[in-house]
Amino acid sequence: MKNPVQNKKQHRLFISFEGIDFSGKSLQANLVKERLEKAGFSVVLFREPGGTIISEKVREILLDPAHGEMAAMTELLLYSSARAQLVREKIQPALRSGKIVICDRYADSSTAYQGYGRQIPLEQVARAHSLAIGTLWPEITFLLDIAPEEAIRRKTAARKLDRLEREDLSFRERVCRGYREIAGKEPERFVVLDGTDRPGPIHEKIWQWMQNKLDI
Ligand code: TYD
Repeated sequence: MKNPVQNKKQHRLFISFEGIDFSGKSLQANLVKERLEKAGFSVVLFREPGGTIISEKVREILLDPAHGEMAAMTELLLYSSARAQLVREKIQPALRSGKIVICDRYADSSTAYQGYGRQIPLEQVARAHSLAIGTLWPEITFLLDIAPEEAIRRKTAARKLDRLEREDLSFRERVCRGYREIAGKEPERFVVLDGTDRPGPIHEKIWQWMQNKLDI
């Protein structure tokens, strides 16, 4: 009997999803994963921070509401350490074996949140990236763009907020502006999508891009 894994289509591709909290990026990451799998591709999806035992432990430290006194630099280094582990333990091996890797947040999150949001100088954030990921950037990054006010409106529907979700509107505004600036600096990597559209049409736009990319 044939091993079904051997029948999977091989395609080395690294994509990421970014956006402020409540932008809907996790839903989109999951939808595209399911559709790629239905099309016969071998796909892995990681959420950041997390994706390995060590990175999940770092996630617990980062998102614990009791850790309100955490310094911005500590935060940057913890996110970077979780990412360094994920890259080495999971992302690089998956890409080497010809899988499509989808990251629900990646290094751009640290640029947006710790750089623009917490106002750590961007060249220091870049140094952390260089240590954590080297040059392993996604080929394409889908940015789900929503206004901070919309995020707060969506947030009120959520029950329990983690430490970062409690941050104020001005923080959110800086992060949102940060994402727009990052995307503007790298238009060849970023696909900016209006996150206030309904999930179905957003997914179709993402899928169209994937079809072109993968020739399907
Ligand atoms: P999570 O509950 O996974 O939120 P989301 O569904 O919005 O991704 O929590 C991740 C939080 O961590 C989120 O508020 C963004 C923040 N974050 C950073 O500040 N820097 C980073 O590098 C990453 C990966 C996440």
